[in-house]
Amino acid sequence: EEKEKSSERESMYLVSEFAQSYFQKTLKNSELGKAIGGTYFKERGFTKETIDKFKLGYSLDQWDAFTKEALGAGYQLEYLEKTGLTIVKEKEGSDDKRMFDRFKGRVMFPIHSMSGRVLGFGGRILTSDKKAAKYLNSPESDIYHKSKVLYGIYHAKQAIAKQDNCFLVEGYTDVIQFHQSGIENVVASSGTALTPDQIRLINRLTKNITVLFDGDAAGLRASLRGIDLILEQGMNVKVCTFPEGQDPDSYARANSEEDLVSFLEENATDFIRFKASLLVKDAQNDPIKKADTIREIVNSIFKIPDRIQREIYVQECSRIMDISEDVLYNTLAQLGNKEV
Ligand code: CTP
Ligand code: MN
Ligand code: MN
Ligand code: MN
Ligand code: MN
Repeated sequence: EEKEKSSERESMYLVSEFAQSYFQKTLKNSELGKAIGGTYFKERGFTKETIDKFKLGYSLDQWDAFTKEALGAGYQLEYLEKTGLTIVKEKEGSDDKRMFDRFKGRVMFPIHSMSGRVLGFGGRILTSDKKAAKYLNSPESDIYHKSKVLYGIYHAKQAIAKQDNCFLVEGYTDVIQFHQSGIENVVASSGTALTPDQIRLINRLTKNITVLFDGDAAGLRASLRGIDLILEQGMNVKVCTFPEGQDPDSYARANSEEDLVSFLEENATDFIRFKASLLVKDAQNDPIKKADTIREIVNSIFKIPDRIQREIYVQECSRIMDISEDVLYNTLAQLGNKEV
């Protein structure tokens, strides 16, 4: 039965690879693809080399253009449906089925595994239609487990090991624009909260991670908690925020490679230091809030497996937050028997 499962997955990979090259061809060879998708990528500043490297594509704004092509090429509907590339709907009151392409009128970003296989797709709309989701993604499937995938890992793995650092960004285009700026050790969580499995992928290549946040503040405080998961795996974490309204993509586009590199070097801050400073600012002169923030920062320190590092951070936070080391140690002790 395991054998059967693995051959099913193989069929799903094959149909996904077919879809990838179909969307690529549509972008490069069809009139609509060139006019709409090609123009879009050009306006975003993506070069031909970049489009080829990341195997970007375009899906026609038609009901079943892709599905017909795939069936015509001999791919089975079962796998088109299992990968989510085709949506099958029963016609009410009859046995008839109708088939629709999931991705229609979108520029396509294939999502690759560590070894370069196609797991799924993200598709971006080109209009600023507020009703439609900006990005539509492949559904969970036997080959695509969102929580175990990092966008860009295939193109980044060598650079991550070589640089001994990994930049973690939010989006597809951040990854791609960084490559164009010569920075290749970069992956994206694709907008979702980071998971332990995703961190393990990076942990195999480096112990150092720099998390880059879009300058939209919205998710910043919420995302900070997710970073405890990285500390828990014994990794060294720095964070860097971008100016209001900017993200790594837009910043990389608007600045030279040199300026981007120095911006990252100057603004990447040790995570615990960053969080402590931010919390202090938040609490200002509110004693109750300050007590909460102390528990919050101690929670993060508690996650660090290395005892010496924990001790250094207690000293540092004591200074930043203007609270005695004893209080921090006691709070730490309350969280468990972990020795400090
Ligand atoms: N995302 C998603 N679905 C959405 C919005 C976002 O899956 N409706 C994911 C995408 O992977 C996206 C990432 O979250 O790349 C970050 O979102 P956001 O910052 O809003 O988009 P950008 O990557 O900046 O995309 P763009 O520059 O094209 O607007
Ligand atoms: Mn599975
Ligand atoms: Mn964002
Ligand atoms: Mn963004
Ligand atoms: Mn963006």
